[in-house]
Amino acid sequence: MNAVIRGTGACTPEKVLTNADFEKMVDTSDDWIVSRTGIKERRVVSSGESNSDLCFKAGQNALEMANISAEDLDMIIVGTVTPDYYLPSTAALVQDKLKALNSAAFDVVAACAGFLHGLSIARGFILNGNVKRVLVIGSEVLSRITDYTDRSTCVLFGDGAGAVVVEAEETGDQNGSGLLSSYLRADGSKKELLWIPIGGSTNPITPHNVEARERYIMMSGNEIYKLAVRAMCDAALRALDQVGINTEQISWLIPHQANIRIIEGVARRLKIPDRKVYLNIEKYGNTSAASVPIALDEANRKGMLKKGDYILMVAFGGGLTWGASLVRW
Ligand code: UT7
Repeated sequence: MNAVIRGTGACTPEKVLTNADFEKMVDTSDDWIVSRTGIKERRVVSSGESNSDLCFKAGQNALEMANISAEDLDMIIVGTVTPDYYLPSTAALVQDKLKALNSAAFDVVAACAGFLHGLSIARGFILNGNVKRVLVIGSEVLSRITDYTDRSTCVLFGDGAGAVVVEAEETGDQNGSGLLSSYLRADGSKKELLWIPIGGSTNPITPHNVEARERYIMMSGNEIYKLAVRAMCDAALRALDQVGINTEQISWLIPHQANIRIIEGVARRLKIPDRKVYLNIEKYGNTSAASVPIALDEANRKGMLKKGDYILMVAFGGGLTWGASLVRW
């Protein structure tokens, strides 16, 4: 049995925030943002636009490409840290919007690694023979939890959604297409390096703290930076090791798009040349769980992914959480 990606999709909001817009909001410059991060612009939702709206459109696009109807889905998994509500899950809202009448639905909270966690769960369910078709989405509206007075974080984040349809394929072909391996890790002891201190059940929002800047993402960027490079390289090598593939055999590295210097550091350490690294950070910034599936969909729709290609996806984020997944296209 293989778990095969049949279709990909994405949805990014229309509204664009450029570096020039941030020059008017905080003490920053286009030069600083581009040289330190690689970001030129990012998309943000308009009022009334929700995470589940982005998921719905990305999911529809992926289903259309896969030529699979929403009613044939057995499961919907949404990786997100910016759900529409605490209750219900965003995945349940997507199930309703898609009219996926025969599907289970749940969210996965693993920050920037959320999509890779979802993909790994989908693969497990499929290989166990429990389900046949899973829609895996990574989606965020980070603009709702971004402090637009904090220059060290606000220039980084954007909104968007990416999706894949994964389907079971009965095959004895060991060289067939499919999700080949995954490696996931976490380190909760470093939660304070990237978190939102208030608003959860430990420190609920109150009339007194509602104006506190602590209800937004807080990040120790420099420390995260160093950990991210090391952790993503380690996860990548472990995912490759599971199936005896080396980095020279990789056709595409599709990394979480948090910082161009982090991506270059990972590629250099893994000895993967720049021409094999898919980048779109300059257009979208860091979209957390959405960044890998948006990049995968873009590369796919541009015809860059060929049958038989080994595609390595890696991500690192709050939790801390990180991981890697290997796919044969
Ligand atoms: O997606 C989840 C995982 N997240 C990440 O992977 C993000 C990881 N971290 C990063 O990408 C980088 O650490 C940042 C892009 C966030 C920051 O880059 P950095 O090279 O680590 O800069 P820094 O935090 O060490 O700050 C350098 C200087 C500081 O000024 P001083 O103290 O040297 O005077 C900052 O105050 O840059 C200043 N600075 C800015 N200056 C202009 C910070 N933000 C800005 C800004 N514009 N937007």
